[in-house]
Amino acid sequence: MLLRADYNVPLEHGKISDDYRIKQSLPTVQYLLDKGAKVIICSHLGRPKGSGDGTCSLWPVAARLSELLGQEKVNFVKDCVGPQVEKAASNLKPGEILLLENLRFHPEEEQNNEDFAQKLASLADVFVQDGFGVVHRAHASTDAVTHFLPSVAGLLLEREVDTITNVMQKPERPLMAVVGGAKISDKIEVLHKFIEIADVVAIGGAMANTFLKAEDIDVAQSMYEAEDVPIAKDIIEKARQKASRQDFIFYIPQDAVVAHKMDKTAQTRIVDFSAHVIADVQNYPKRPPHSASTIAHDEMILDIGPFSGSFIAGSMQLAKTVIWNGAMGVTEVDGLQGPTGPFAHGTQLIIQSILGQFGHRPFSVVGGGDTVGYIERLGLVDHFNHVSTGGGASLELMAGRTLPGVAALLDKTDQPEVVQ
Ligand code: 3PG
Repeated sequence: MLLRADYNVPLEHGKISDDYRIKQSLPTVQYLLDKGAKVIICSHLGRPKGSGDGTCSLWPVAARLSELLGQEKVNFVKDCVGPQVEKAASNLKPGEILLLENLRFHPEEEQNNEDFAQKLASLADVFVQDGFGVVHRAHASTDAVTHFLPSVAGLLLEREVDTITNVMQKPERPLMAVVGGAKISDKIEVLHKFIEIADVVAIGGAMANTFLKAEDIDVAQSMYEAEDVPIAKDIIEKARQKASRQDFIFYIPQDAVVAHKMDKTAQTRIVDFSAHVIADVQNYPKRPPHSASTIAHDEMILDIGPFSGSFIAGSMQLAKTVIWNGAMGVTEVDGLQGPTGPFAHGTQLIIQSILGQFGHRPFSVVGGGDTVGYIERLGLVDHFNHVSTGGGASLELMAGRTLPGVAALLDKTDQPEVVQ
């Protein structure tokens, strides 16, 4: 049995800092072991520069896998094709695991090379695709390999595709999408999709800065994508058109937490972009100081503000389904006394709202990527309804794209689609 997993996990000084993807692969691995299969697992890790890039070895994954599986011995071989691998595979006994070294140590993997795929396929008699995080790539181990072996989906892949497809196609409404993270460019398609299907779309994270810029707000030193401002304008326009036709909210933060530096000791303050509007409307004689509604030239936005956080968290209390992808602010900076840093309050509020701390608990789907690492660090990952192991793959699936690694399985009509 050749099992494709996505063990592309973050490593810090050679240690796995987030093993969520490994843990999520265990049901399929255990299922196959229980059936007495000889399980040969292949994966990539990172984007190695040549085969000698030791920082991308899967060896730490073999160690972690064997810890997680209890006493199961996980054999590891320092390549993924060739005589050494063939020997290790033929020595494998039923109920044993062999983890192969990083597929991307061979450029043929990303080239979707047929010969390379055939060599991989020759190690087994059935191919199980369970690396959801990588099925948006047409690589040898996601596409070409299926030309040589009967190929079926694993349990994780099945759960990911079913849950995400269901929530996009027939969500319980109201449906709210909360999109944060750094870049609009990664999420243009999915933003368009959310505007089409959701009842509320809220934006946070550094990508909100590009939207603020599109609304002519000076974001000073904040991270934003100048070249994507026109895209942000188009998205805002599309959202406004929908809102003019039906009940729909497209929410860009109204206030922000700003600081001079991205540091746990940084002094923060709140800027309320709409403060001057309120003052103008009321013709209030004592206008708030200019600084209350503007970011100074040496400041940057690092989180959504309390008003925006409350608005988003409050809207969630009316939603039946929430899809969340991307933090609202910088969550990588720890606080002086723990993991909640000075720029993580917006994200915390979102988490509390999704998890029912304000009374109502919507069905929640969390898109993969950095958000998952953060909620895993907080020990909260099991509290959401579905936390995807895919970053790009979950975004592409949400956007309605065909995933090559899934299409390669579904087109084999003479086979069962999933491992039962
Ligand atoms: C991911 O982490 O998104 C997947 O493992 C795919 O990795 P890639 O973006 O390097 O292809």
